[in-house]
Amino acid sequence: MSAVPTWAQLVYLLCAVGFILALKGLSGPRTARTGNLVGAAAAVVAVVLPFTYLDLDHVPLIVGAIVVGSLVGALGARRVQMTQMPQMVALFNGVGGGAAALVALLELDELLHLSDAADVESFVLAATAFTVLVGSVSFAGSVITFAKLQELMTSRPVVFAGLPLVFGAAILASLALGVLTVTNATLGIGVGLAVLGLIVGVLLVLPVGGADVPIVISLLNAFTGLTVAAGGYVLSNVVLLVAGTLVGASGTFLTLLMARAMGRSVPNILFGALRGGSTLGAGEASDRPVRSAGPEDVAILLGYADRVIIVPGYGLAVAQAQHTLRELVEVLQARGTRVDYAIHPVAGRMPGHMNVLLAEAQVPYEQLVEMDDINGEFKHTDVVLVVGANDVVNPAARTTPSAPIYGMPILDVDQAQQVVFLKRSMRPGFAGIENELLFDPRTTLLFGDAKESLTKLLAAAKGL
Ligand code: TAP
Repeated sequence: MSAVPTWAQLVYLLCAVGFILALKGLSGPRTARTGNLVGAAAAVVAVVLPFTYLDLDHVPLIVGAIVVGSLVGALGARRVQMTQMPQMVALFNGVGGGAAALVALLELDELLHLSDAADVESFVLAATAFTVLVGSVSFAGSVITFAKLQELMTSRPVVFAGLPLVFGAAILASLALGVLTVTNATLGIGVGLAVLGLIVGVLLVLPVGGADVPIVISLLNAFTGLTVAAGGYVLSNVVLLVAGTLVGASGTFLTLLMARAMGRSVPNILFGALRGGSTLGAGEASDRPVRSAGPEDVAILLGYADRVIIVPGYGLAVAQAQHTLRELVEVLQARGTRVDYAIHPVAGRMPGHMNVLLAEAQVPYEQLVEMDDINGEFKHTDVVLVVGANDVVNPAARTTPSAPIYGMPILDVDQAQQVVFLKRSMRPGFAGIENELLFDPRTTLLFGDAKESLTKLLAAAKGL
């Protein structure tokens, strides 16, 4: 490979700084858009740069691949529904891991054909083996997570007799081939390593239940980051090294934070089903009696309230009712009612889902209050309006050790004077378990699609 000229190394360094600034920007809603743009610009520069100093073969093929990839990426990202975002992240992440593994295989082939192949450092070969293996794990695992979330296959944990044994054997065989890659590398061994990586990736994700899949996506994202970083070392490419390390580190943190927000440990999420504990509940709709009301009754309830808290959840995103909700809140605020939105860290289906959804509806950031800051407020609250949320307010997380969400910190909605749920039916939330709060004497249900219910509620509230 030709040496990278100093000026190009400097530009790579600037790109790496761009990625760090992008991450910093993405950590807050006000700066996220700029952060995203800075990161994208740095990525474009890093992709174009090699064309300026390398004497590349097959340029039309490379450019063609970049164009096809960019078109698919841009169209996919434009068309995707917000609720399908985790699937898209899984797919893009898997493609990244797979690409890194393929590049490492090609690099291995090149290393083996060098005139001084015997002198290649063991560490370089070890990094190559790591990239091939973990990149393949990430690719196959991401494909299974995509299939689960897109409901192309069951989202329940898939476990079969002997799975732990096969999984353990595949890991041991991968380690053995990894060692062989360092001691007696051949392309065949590299390909074998890739195949084993695919098997490990599939077996790693099959036992994970649907509700936990987004955490696994984040974990696989961290894997891809580490793969890319190792690939950067093999290719002596500083920008891959830095970008991969950033993705690896941030993916690891995100995984741990999400697991903590769900009150679970990462090993429990990955291997809980192997020990017999299902990670997804039964999902039956209850026929026990509940108190339901019409939009006019709920508007009157809200009209008398001094303090209202809104709990948004996945159903708000499904109904795309965020704008109507913001309008309703504005009507209440104009009447002197104090209204805040309580944000649970895993409400919806992806990290920051509610923040993004409400920001899109121009809800001021100050009105979004994180779980730990608002939980003390519920006991002073007249009415809590739960819009398309369920698991994040389910007291079973505190009271029922057998519940899949047991141990997850929840919003203490049950401490408020009155609770109104906006949902379509008595079907449970993602975890598939009944919510005792729906049957509480202080709870009222306003049945219907959240957009339709809120539209009627808004009209009734304006008419008061
Ligand atoms: P869920 O517990 O899934 O409840 C969503 C509720 O919305 C359901 O009760 C559903 O009832 C209702 N709903 C659906 N579509 C609706 C519509 N069009 N109009 C009105 N209501 C509608 O959601 P949540 O409380 O936000 O909890 C999130 C769950 O996802 C948690 O279990 C969490 O662990 C899991 N999860 C989250 C993440 C992240 S990072 N956010 C990642 C993975 C998993 P009906 O069907 O009766 O309408």
